[in-house]
Amino acid sequence: MVSRGLFGWSPPHVQPLTPVSETSEPPESPSPYAADAFGVGGPGDPPRHPDGAGPEDDGGDDDGADGEDPEPPPAAVPFKRLFACADRLDWALMAAGGAAAAAHGVALVVYLHLFGRAINIVTSDMLAPDLDGSSNQIVMSDMLHALYFLYIAIGVFFAGWIEVSCWILTGERQTAVIRSKYVQVLLNQDMSFFDTYGNNGDIVSQVLSDVLLIQSALSEKVGNYIHNMATFFGGLVIGLVNCWQIALLTLATGPFIVAAGGISNIFLHRLAENIQDAYGEAASIAEQAILYIRTLYSFTNETLAKYSYATSLQATLRYGILISLVQGLGLGFTYGLAICSCALQLWVGRFLILHGRANGGEIVVALFAIILSGLGLNQAATNFYSFEQGRIAAYRLYEMISRSTSTVNQDGRTLNSVQGNIEFRNVYFSYLSRPEIPILSGFYLTVPARKTVALVGRNGSGKSSIIPLMERFYDPTLGEVLLDGENIKNLKLEWLRSQIGLVTQEPALLSLSIRENIAYGRSATTDQIEEAAKTAHAHTFISSLEKGYETQVGRAGLSLTEEQKIKLSIARAVLSNPSILLLDEVTGALDFEAEKAVQEALDVLMLGRSTIIIARRLSLIRNADYIAVMEEGQLVEMGTHEELLNLDGLYAELLKCEEAAKLPKR
Ligand SMILES: Nc1ncnc2c1ncn2[C@@H]1O[C@H](COP(=O)(O)OP(=O)(O)O)[C@@H](O)[C@H]1O
Ligand SMILES: [Mg+2]
Repeated sequence: MVSRGLFGWSPPHVQPLTPVSETSEPPESPSPYAADAFGVGGPGDPPRHPDGAGPEDDGGDDDGADGEDPEPPPAAVPFKRLFACADRLDWALMAAGGAAAAAHGVALVVYLHLFGRAINIVTSDMLAPDLDGSSNQIVMSDMLHALYFLYIAIGVFFAGWIEVSCWILTGERQTAVIRSKYVQVLLNQDMSFFDTYGNNGDIVSQVLSDVLLIQSALSEKVGNYIHNMATFFGGLVIGLVNCWQIALLTLATGPFIVAAGGISNIFLHRLAENIQDAYGEAASIAEQAILYIRTLYSFTNETLAKYSYATSLQATLRYGILISLVQGLGLGFTYGLAICSCALQLWVGRFLILHGRANGGEIVVALFAIILSGLGLNQAATNFYSFEQGRIAAYRLYEMISRSTSTVNQDGRTLNSVQGNIEFRNVYFSYLSRPEIPILSGFYLTVPARKTVALVGRNGSGKSSIIPLMERFYDPTLGEVLLDGENIKNLKLEWLRSQIGLVTQEPALLSLSIRENIAYGRSATTDQIEEAAKTAHAHTFISSLEKGYETQVGRAGLSLTEEQKIKLSIARAVLSNPSILLLDEVTGALDFEAEKAVQEALDVLMLGRSTIIIARRLSLIRNADYIAVMEEGQLVEMGTHEELLNLDGLYAELLKCEEAAKLPKR
């Protein structure tokens, strides 16, 4: 993409004998060369963009000028689709902002046009000072011109204001819509998405930076582009209208000046890369010497290291000299040619004046108008890089937004009353992120209504994987999961999940008060919340806190002990009053005392609900109605504690192992 200025000299990328930073940073100050590509400053100086963007500050490094970049360009949306989230107000803002930007851009050349006429009046004023009648006329038209300038000033004030505020406002509005759409989509993803992309917030930060790129393209950059293109066209028209001969001559000489700047720029880029490599090489020598400093000292090789570092620096010195030469020559040529071009135009202008084809004001205006026009085009081109970045970011983002993972049936049926008979029938399952590893292979399990089934088995045998299947975070590859005889795939997802209470070892507490954490979005009275807390044995400790139920917890608030957190999450489950309860090693991280307290609360919670409990310690589930033993994703034994002991199978073995593990501690 064009990220380098079209016209003339772009800011030098390198300073002699200075390492070139890896990220192509903008020059410290806007380059004087960019504005003065034609060698003329003065009143014709264009309005510089506030960020001081030189024609190539936005990563001119990676443009394809060298033809060395084999990578295909990243996918991007068409420019129009950047505005996919604009509503009517946004379009109105953009129209107003666009019109204001165009007016702002044209104002400068219109000013120039009037300036030329004012010069003519003043010169004729000086040539004919004694003619009374005409001098009155001249004073009048001087005043008129001063008034015009005032109008332009007022116009520019409002146009600039409207341009910037409209574009920034609409940029904010549109990106806010994109952000909220994205979060909605994120929350609709199924679990395998988070398994694949990780749920550590990386996606969120990626989105933040993508949205910023889109915002930058959407807001000021479009306005800036329109502004500069208006200067470009306006300058052409004004130049041609005032004196087409000079305008065409300026246009004809322009390419030579551009070429002088461009050619030296190409060399500078090459040299910049080379000097960067040379510095990299020298740095790696120093780095290795420091890294293996002990070896270096023990072999007394310091002199050698110093010598090789100095030798590798010689290359950078050579490149430095070359760079200073190219840079100086380029600069000299550009300025020299520009001034030559001016001289030529003034020389031609003299003939035109002598033959009465034009006057001085018109010639100066034509010259400056074309220069301004060129600078406008140059500045407009600098926005392409931002547009490109925005389009690429939009592609990534829109692709994510359009990602449809709604295999989930949102309008399935609901059961009138839930008994709580759960059945896993010949279930095969593997996680999408690791499809080659079977987790469940032909798993059967029946949980009768209002009974408790404990799942036991070795680590990694697939116990915890039952839970996401029951919650329908994932669907089985084969086989089915039934609730009261109905395949849970046919049930309304929200309803199904509302029937299930899940308590795990890592309770999620939000940065809210204890009350809000227990209620967790549900509307509940204070009494209900306290009742739930009492059932979970949490009321006592909550009451002992200074602010009671209003205590802030979570990341920013009071840090609770594991036991307290688990009790809060039990209270949360109590309040939602589910018919099915899934408990996954709830007490796994607790010490003996805390475990006992929590287990008591769990026992109350489990009463009258169909429960699947997974416990690390077998002694905790001894009293379960049934114990199901799993091995490698299959059910191998099922029965009561006594039955399984008599069977003397895997359960008995696990129990023995546990006893044996306990013994040495005593
Ligand atoms: N989200 C996941 N993505 C991929 N593999 C997983 C995921 N969760 C668990 N596993 C793998 O599934 C296997 C069974 O895990 P799990 O059901 O937690 O066993 P258990 O609870 O019996 O220790 C393990 O090998 C584990 O690495
Ligand atoms: Mg587990």
